[in-house]
Amino acid sequence: MWWKNGVIYQIYPRSFMDSNGDGIGDLKGITQKLDYLNDGTPNSLGVDAIWISPFFKSPMKDFGYDISDYRDIDSMFGTIEDFKELLSEAHKRNIHIIIDMVLNHTSDQHPWFIESRLSRDNTKADWYIWHSGKNAKTGEDGEIIRGKRPNNWFAQFELKNAWWYDPDRKQFYLGTFTRHQPELNWRNQELREEMYDLARYWLDIGVDGFRLDVINWFIKDDQFRSNPYSLKSIDLQKHIYDRNRPETIEICRDLRKITDSYHERMMVGEVFTDNAELASEYCGDGTDALHMAFNFNFLFQPWRADKIYDSIIKWYDSLKGESWPNFTFSNHDNLRHSYRYRKGEDTTARCKVAAALLMTLRGTPFIYYGEELGMTGGRLRRKDMKDPLSYRTYPLKRFCRDMARTPMQWDSSANSGFSGVKPWLPVDSNFKSNNVSVQEADPDSLLNFYKKLIWLRKQSVPMQSGDIKFYQEYLPGVLVFQREAVNQTSNQKLIILLNFTESRVNINLSSHIRNDLKVLLGTHRSDEQICISDGLELNKYEVLIGLC
Ligand code: NOJ
Repeated sequence: MWWKNGVIYQIYPRSFMDSNGDGIGDLKGITQKLDYLNDGTPNSLGVDAIWISPFFKSPMKDFGYDISDYRDIDSMFGTIEDFKELLSEAHKRNIHIIIDMVLNHTSDQHPWFIESRLSRDNTKADWYIWHSGKNAKTGEDGEIIRGKRPNNWFAQFELKNAWWYDPDRKQFYLGTFTRHQPELNWRNQELREEMYDLARYWLDIGVDGFRLDVINWFIKDDQFRSNPYSLKSIDLQKHIYDRNRPETIEICRDLRKITDSYHERMMVGEVFTDNAELASEYCGDGTDALHMAFNFNFLFQPWRADKIYDSIIKWYDSLKGESWPNFTFSNHDNLRHSYRYRKGEDTTARCKVAAALLMTLRGTPFIYYGEELGMTGGRLRRKDMKDPLSYRTYPLKRFCRDMARTPMQWDSSANSGFSGVKPWLPVDSNFKSNNVSVQEADPDSLLNFYKKLIWLRKQSVPMQSGDIKFYQEYLPGVLVFQREAVNQTSNQKLIILLNFTESRVNINLSSHIRNDLKVLLGTHRSDEQICISDGLELNKYEVLIGLC
């Protein structure tokens, strides 16, 4: 199955390629760059699917995660014809397309919300989450007298209470991201049916899958209880009443039935948590709910093989039945890992270790655009900030999502070949030395290493689907594991050695394998080189993928 064996590449469409010279990336821009992603040869990256962050009609208060028409494309990104062309060109290259469905909330400019806020008895009145407030009273003329905000639920990007008063309806609506993203009421059956129709609409057009935004927020507590306080969470709340309500799994099951009624389609849910067990629950037994739930654990790990190892094991142990794992180091909401794991001159070497890990673990790898170049996002000033969260939390880098969204660095020409005009976010000032064309010309570049890894994975059954077994005795510094695929005709075993440290390390594998290793791919040895398994000296940050 493509979504299990393949590599998925996330594109933030505003920042990938601008085809019409307005400083903002668009769908035609993506189509122009499909050969870079996969032209069927190892000269290209070789990805099997792209997940495109939202490109639907939107006032862009949260850069597309606030949708005002789910069935239309925002003119900034192109037209539905442009999308269909992208889909068909991608399919010609065996690239699958995953679209981003933001079904927890709409924009406040969505016609449903415009109608819903008009009165308490219109046809969309119950499609959003409304509340009269705590201790609200009804006056003599039937007029509602505003109560206090219903509870302590928190708006993530406004950094304040998530209930917003609407003077026309004289009620509060819920918006746990910005006030411009009112939350839909998934307890309303009509709304649900509308969303299921929407899924069918895009499946009929031919998309291969959905990334489901914050699926674990769809259902809220029906008694609107306040979350308890918690020191473990940045917003000081334990999100038990506004997230992860048990009824949400029903929606995953319904959506699974719909996607499974089409050929080889998939869903990956953003389960907004660092709790692996919780995330895995949304996959059910792997056959009856989401196809995959994002595993965000690598986003929170320090550069330590033992910590990374623990998070991998935790994740594998959490998955039930046939649930399929996945791994990701970077996305559009977090500082890129090339930045998180930076270490001066050694940064690229670390990124190679991370890339090798991502491509050799059992589970689907998700790459974020520009990670193959080691893009970091550069330095943004407050006046450059576009994202509401980045702006509000400036100068705290930790929450700066804009740094993860700077334009793709294609070449050394003006604006790094991304656009003919000043881009919507500044290009990293290092673009002249770090871009696709510079890295393509350097055989040792990170980009060429990603290409080699991806193409090796494509030809390797053990890397795609083999069992995995860790050799723990080399921790905390070195992660060593085997991938083995056994079938009736052959038995292929790979050994992967990843030195996370800046020291040379001696490894003796003789208690695990009898043969010596033949190098398939590595950072310090030539392909086909034979390595003696009982006396292997790994260089600092060395990657070695060997066949035994
Ligand atoms: C999660 C998305 O990843 C993020 O970018 C977005 O701002 C929120 N959901 C709200 O849709």
